Parts: sequence; C-alpha cells; structure tokens
Amino acid sequence: MTVVGSVNLDLVARVARLPSPGETLTAHGVTRHPGGKGANQALACRRLGATVRLVGAVGADPLADEALALLRAEGVELSAVTEVDAPTGTAMIQVDDDGETTIVIDAGANGLVSFSDSRGTDVVMTVLEVPDDAVAAAMAAPGFTVLNAAPARDVPEEVLRTVDLLSVNADEHALLSRTADLDALPAVAVTRGAQGASLYRHGVETATAEPPPVEAVDGTAAGDAFTAALALALVEGLPDDEALARACAVGALTTTRVGAQPALPTASDLDAFLEDHA
Ligand code: RIB
Ligand code: NA
Repeated sequence: MTVVGSVNLDLVARVARLPSPGETLTAHGVTRHPGGKGANQALACRRLGATVRLVGAVGADPLADEALALLRAEGVELSAVTEVDAPTGTAMIQVDDDGETTIVIDAGANGLVSFSDSRGTDVVMTVLEVPDDAVAAAMAAPGFTVLNAAPARDVPEEVLRTVDLLSVNADEHALLSRTADLDALPAVAVTRGAQGASLYRHGVETATAEPPPVEAVDGTAAGDAFTAALALALVEGLPDDEALARACAVGALTTTRVGAQPALPTASDLDAFLEDHA
C-alpha cells in the first residue's frame, strides 16, 4: 500500500492539565518521538503486517533522521520521501494526566509533498497534513482510496467523490458535511474517542463498535492507528463489524502507550489484546 502523508518530529510535554490561554505551566518532562499523521498510518499498517511505501518530504536537517528512524528500522519503503528546501515538520504536543492532547503543527517540508501515481498500488491512503494537490492526486489514483480527513479542514466535493473510505472524528464529519453530502460516499467511518466508532455505507450504518475499556495515558495517534487498521481489515475482506471492532481495538491500544509511533501496536499485540478482551 502507499501512504501519501506527513512526517513530523513530535515534541511532547506531559502536563497535569492542559494550560489555559495566557497561563504558564511546568511540564513533568519533555520527550521527542517520530510522528506525523501520514507516517503514523504508514507505520501502523506496517506493524499490522502490510507492505508499505510512504510518499512524503523532510528537510535537510537532523530532525529528518530522527523522524524517519522507526519507519526505516521497521521496513517502510522510503524511496519516495524526498529531501526539500524546508525544515522537517514538527508537532508541539501537550498530553495531560487523562491522555488528552493538544497539538500544534508546523508543516515545514510536508507543505511541499507532491504525488503522481507512477507505480500503481492496491491501496492509497492520505491525510490533510499535505497540500490539497497531493490529497487530490492520491485519491484519484486507481485502487482503494482512504482519506483520514485530519486535521479538520475543507476538502473539495470533487475530491471527496473519489474517496472509497473516509475516516473522520465527529468534528471533521460536521465540517465536511457543510459542503458535501457524505451519505453519497461508499464508506464513512466516524470515530467518537472512547465511545467507539460507526461505519456507514452510502449513509446507512452497517456497524458500530465500542473499544474495550483501557487505561488511556496518551491519545496521540489513536485516530491514525484506527484508520490504518480499518483500511487494512476492509481490504482483507473482513465483515464490517469485525473490521470496525479491530480498528477500535487498535485505536484503544494506541492510547495505552506514550507517544505517536512508539505506541502503535503490532499484529501480535492486537491478537493478545483481543484474546484478553474476548
Ligand atoms: O495524529 C497524531 C499526529 O498529529 C502526531 O504524531 C503529530 O505529528 C500530528 O501530526
Ligand atoms: Na499514544
């Protein structure tokens, strides 16, 4: 599969609670992890057993190696990650004691990602941390196309019409619904955090799932992991309810560990978790 997406280095401050405007808080500590919604989805798919190619961009700076380290070590194909004249993308993340997050990103090199389908692929996934043209080109590619419409922003209706699976949270769903009829899409997954998720086909709910209860420490990348797992399960031909339950479990597992990419579960983590919660 091909992921056209963002690569970030995440700078994560752990705080007792998220600060209010104008407030200064002291963090418990700061850590750095590879992140970026696109890269997270690519690694999530890889850890679940897929062969994955990432199309993206990084800067000619030391952050690039740090941001790509896990993808490289775990065999995501990176030949289409180009070095461009902009800094590697960064994300400033705050995580509170309940695992709630706020994220501010600087797109940097991700703003220069472009895609033209030279190879063809079975599945193409993208996110909204790369430019509109790259999103449109990814969704126009032949194969099963998946759009995780995060972070929330408008997407032209003609692009949405080329999406086979749209994955959104409730806010993203509301925003896109203002300008497009999402009931016309072949498949739409709507996530509701710990409340679970629903899957709709042409506007008709075909599955709903709740994640098993977990001790959440960091919600970062849970949506990325959910989308990756759902896309893989549907492409594998799992029935909607099973696919959605797996995706919810992968999202929940991701919240039990700190960081974006370090938190993404492997196929055997998932199997063990599902067995424990059967
Ligand atoms: O979805 C989580 C991701 O959002 C983080 O890894 C951060 O880089 C931002 O892109
Ligand atoms: Na996490």
